[in-house]
Amino acid sequence: MSGATCQRRLEGKVAIVTGGASGIGETTSRLFADRGALAVVIADIQVEQGERVAASIGHGRCTFMHCDVTNEDQVKSVVDSTVQKYGHLDIMFSNAAGVVNRNQGILDLDLHALDDLFAVNVRGMAVCVKHAGRVMVDGGVKGSIVCTGSAAASVGGETHIDYIMSKHAVLGLVRSACRGLGKYGIRVNCVSPSALVTPMMCNLLELDEEGVENAYSHRSSLEGRVLKASNVADAVLFLASDESAFVSGHNLAVDGGYLNR
Ligand SMILES: NC(=O)c1ccc[n+]([C@@H]2O[C@H](COP(=O)([O-])OP(=O)(O)OC[C@H]3O[C@@H](n4cnc5c(N)ncnc54)[C@H](O)[C@@H]3O)[C@@H](O)[C@H]2O)c1
Repeated sequence: MSGATCQRRLEGKVAIVTGGASGIGETTSRLFADRGALAVVIADIQVEQGERVAASIGHGRCTFMHCDVTNEDQVKSVVDSTVQKYGHLDIMFSNAAGVVNRNQGILDLDLHALDDLFAVNVRGMAVCVKHAGRVMVDGGVKGSIVCTGSAAASVGGETHIDYIMSKHAVLGLVRSACRGLGKYGIRVNCVSPSALVTPMMCNLLELDEEGVENAYSHRSSLEGRVLKASNVADAVLFLASDESAFVSGHNLAVDGGYLNR
């Protein structure tokens, strides 16, 4: 692929990025726009931050829509209005998720907190895949759906077990949806980062960026390298673009070999 082609990997594509106002979603929205996407629609609950990111990318290429992924009507509305405005939907990056600010262990598991977390991390992901899949099928678009999993989707833990369970569920969603949508030529994949600096991690650990990096630097097998949101965005770009045309149902770990140690 020539340099120019590489720069235009998403030419003509229309993408929705949930959780695009911050962290991995923000970085990926910027990369999608930079790689020639016709339109990137950021869907998030953070209105001011989302508007700011969309404006800095440029309103010709990026727009913000308020959307709480726990609300099916709002997700449907974002998906439908995107298709109405741009004619089609090619990429859904279902990335919005949260984490409970307390150590959820099995013996003191707060099930209300678990329900709230699952409403975003599991139900919210499923709703995004469902509605993106529907408009792609209706429009005859052989699109790409990417969900954000986590290294936590593949290992157990003693704390934050609601989050761990929710990310395991995302894998089940991806592996099932890739079958249901595969017959329409639609691909569904998962990107699974290990821990990295984002507002979510800084808030959770109550550390600044350097503190988060120090806390997790020992987890990579790649000496001297630290995982950045741009590394995750590059993996999402691969899964979203036609370069991964025969990849579906895959869980792409972006963890510097953490799970293989
Ligand atoms: N940061 C990490 O270490 C890490 C590691 C593995 C996986 N992840 C996953 O990456 C994804 C992005 O997280 P991040 O680290 O960039 O965090 P972040 O907090 O920077 O971004 C998450 C975004 O999701 C939005 N969001 C939260 N609830 C929402 C809802 N109900 N509806 C719509 N938007 C909502 C937030 O407003 C925020 O903009 C998540 O799925 C997270 O689980 C993060």
